[in-house]
Amino acid sequence: MGIVLGIESSCDETAAALVDSERRVIAQRIASQDDAHRPYGGVVPEIAARAHAERVTPLVQATLTDAGMTLADVDAIAATAGPGLIGGVMVGLVSAKALAMASGKPLIAINHLEGHALSPRLADSALQFPYLLLLVSGGHCQILLVEGVGRYKRLGTTIDDALGEAFDKTAKILGLGFPGGPAVERLAREGDARKVSLPRPLLGSSEPHFSFAGLKSAVLRAKEALDRAGASTSSAGAVTDSNSNPAQAEPVEAGLASAPSAPPYSHADIAASFQLAAIDCVIDRTRKALSASIKPTALVVAGGVAANQAVRGALEALAAEFGLPFVAPPLALCTDNAAMIAWAGIERLGQSDPLDFAARPRWPLDPDAAPVRGAGVKA
Ligand code: KG4
Ligand code: ZN
Repeated sequence: MGIVLGIESSCDETAAALVDSERRVIAQRIASQDDAHRPYGGVVPEIAARAHAERVTPLVQATLTDAGMTLADVDAIAATAGPGLIGGVMVGLVSAKALAMASGKPLIAINHLEGHALSPRLADSALQFPYLLLLVSGGHCQILLVEGVGRYKRLGTTIDDALGEAFDKTAKILGLGFPGGPAVERLAREGDARKVSLPRPLLGSSEPHFSFAGLKSAVLRAKEALDRAGASTSSAGAVTDSNSNPAQAEPVEAGLASAPSAPPYSHADIAASFQLAAIDCVIDRTRKALSASIKPTALVVAGGVAANQAVRGALEALAAEFGLPFVAPPLALCTDNAAMIAWAGIERLGQSDPLDFAARPRWPLDPDAAPVRGAGVKA
């Protein structure tokens, strides 16, 4: 039996957790920085790094206290060492190094993406390698064949935005605040996904890569058309809500809605149409990967966007199409957390990394993956 202390600080959650090899999350604490970043509509790296520096030590202390443990009770200290916002990663990693040095316990430097990739095994003891993983978060959008601990074959990636980023940008365009994913999902429930015709980038293309930049731009054009129509008709009391235009059910090409008459769609219709377009892309690309890869044991989803019920539902249906079990970790394990980092430490127990291990802003899970044509720096 082993116990690992995990520390996560790669984006805007400062988190600590104690996990054992029996898959018990003994204690965990998460300090979200949403309030600090909200006024800026996105994560500000410098603010994030400072917040991690203030919070990480008391958070680790509180987590140990919750468990009634001290560092003497843990077998290793695992910390995210990349990829992510480098200031934040350095704070968590340096803290873990100090704790490792003071306690004499091994340091295990964890790839944040490996934390997400292995988290389904923390939740589901029956999940065996190899499984096909759709990793969809704010910073990452990849399809991976998880063959074992440290053995990842990247089948697909995004050539521009990550899926969570597309949700966040859509939320920003629609004025829904930050973080955007859950807000878009909520609003989409009230809308009609057939009302706004949006593009599905790379749909049907031969390799399972993603692109969301064009979809985001189309959402912006749809919103601008709505605003223009609203501005020119609001004094006449025109209503832009779709429910008031039941006769106009034909989808409207984004941005081509003719002002000054109000486009026959609402904000909720844009959110719903965006979400459906994004899901269509995800399903098409994942289907391509499932058809191309060796038969995996399961289709697994992880990362923050895995919290989206519509995304989950569509993936579950896809898994059934291929006769595969569908595994999605509980929501708290999908968004950034330290239990997944501690669990990756459990999976790697027995290894240790040097105290001069450098934080890595970029750290691909599959270093052998070929660069993707048209990919920007995020791939
Ligand atoms: O895994 P995560 O917490 O952080 C990263 O490693 O990026 O993922 C955060 C991302 C954000 O983009 C957030 O908007 C998105 O996950 N997200 C969602 C939902 N909940 C979180 N996207 C769509 N629907 C949701 N319910
Ligand atoms: Zn993450």
